[in-house]
Amino acid sequence: MLGATGYVGRELLTLLVRHPDARVVRMISSTSGASKPFPIEQVHPALRSRFTIPCLPVDLEGPGGFALLEAVGAPEADVVFLATPHETSCDVVPVLLDAGLRVIDLSGAFRLKDAAAYPRWYGFEHHASEALAEAVYGLPELNPAAVASARLLSNPGCYATSVILALSPLLRSGWVDISAGIISDSKSGASGAGRTPSGKLHFPEVNENCRAYGLFTHRHVPEMLQALDIGEKDFIFTPHLLPVTRGILSTVYVRFNARRTLGEVVALFKQIYGPSPLVRVYEGGALPEIQAVAGTQYADLGFALDEETQRLIIVSALDNLGKGAAGQAVQNMNLMFGLPQEVGLI
Ligand SMILES: NC(=O)c1ccc[n+]([C@@H]2O[C@H](COP(=O)([O-])OP(=O)(O)OC[C@H]3O[C@@H](n4cnc5c(N)ncnc54)[C@H](OP(=O)(O)O)[C@@H]3O)[C@@H](O)[C@H]2O)c1
Repeated sequence: MLGATGYVGRELLTLLVRHPDARVVRMISSTSGASKPFPIEQVHPALRSRFTIPCLPVDLEGPGGFALLEAVGAPEADVVFLATPHETSCDVVPVLLDAGLRVIDLSGAFRLKDAAAYPRWYGFEHHASEALAEAVYGLPELNPAAVASARLLSNPGCYATSVILALSPLLRSGWVDISAGIISDSKSGASGAGRTPSGKLHFPEVNENCRAYGLFTHRHVPEMLQALDIGEKDFIFTPHLLPVTRGILSTVYVRFNARRTLGEVVALFKQIYGPSPLVRVYEGGALPEIQAVAGTQYADLGFALDEETQRLIIVSALDNLGKGAAGQAVQNMNLMFGLPQEVGLI
């Protein structure tokens, strides 16, 4: 695993160490904090005495080819998780694929089909177009067969997972009046920004505060548009930073194009997510909240419908580090290796 010292890396290690069919053969960090192998509990105290292998600092901007493959533990490794910055993943993935490894990338480097979209949304030129063309956007509830056969699995973003799960059943069924506009007002805990400190994430700036950010510019917008097959003009996504460590709550607003009841809405979601062990559909107007999902691998969905005006509100909650990142990556790994998708997750 690359990116072992990050927040997502910690969650992956926590899940994989207790997974009955997985074994972590290498964990890798950058060289920014260490020059020689070190015990992972030095960075993640909760992992004390869970691993006998050390974390290896590797300058991923330096080595390609053999040195990189040696570092990731090929050929012993069957799959490599990348919990690294987008540009690092973009550099490293082609080398791993060329060596015949399967890859699960948790960055945004392989989420967008159009390489030309990367400068606008991610601020860099994408130079791995072959890998991008074969990448599978892996939302296991929606495309399990494609996930199962993927060589390069691009794990969806945390906000994007919460919004796509909320909207996909309705859009696929043609129930939404798209011309009325679709809005997602989403809130995330501060671990969503990763471990690197910044002024905006300083405790007194976040605590007892709630701030909107990334208006019209958030990186998860294009993957949501792509997965939902809707246009930019039809969708507004506004993320907010909450003073909690983990969790996402998305409140999504749509209007129907024909009369529906709350019972029909719940039945539709139950039908589509019925076989999905990690999506919980609430009935009778009950609504999910962050405390129901923080520290779990579930995505929870609840609904309120104003039958008079046919406006529906979907409330979607998940843990940004769980179903929004590491949990979903392990769920994808399970499918890629022929295991039930919930193994090691519930
Ligand atoms: N946080 C979330 O909720 C979340 C959710 C979904 C997806 N993601 C994505 O998952 C990835 C990791 O996120 P995170 O929150 O875990 O970030 P993070 O806490 O900042 O961790 C980043 C990891 O990448 C390593 N790294 C940084 N620069 C590197 C470089 N140049 N070469 C090699 N390794 C490098 C870091 O190593 P050092 O510690 O040595 O610097 C660290 O292990 C990102 O792409 C992020 O967008 C995050």
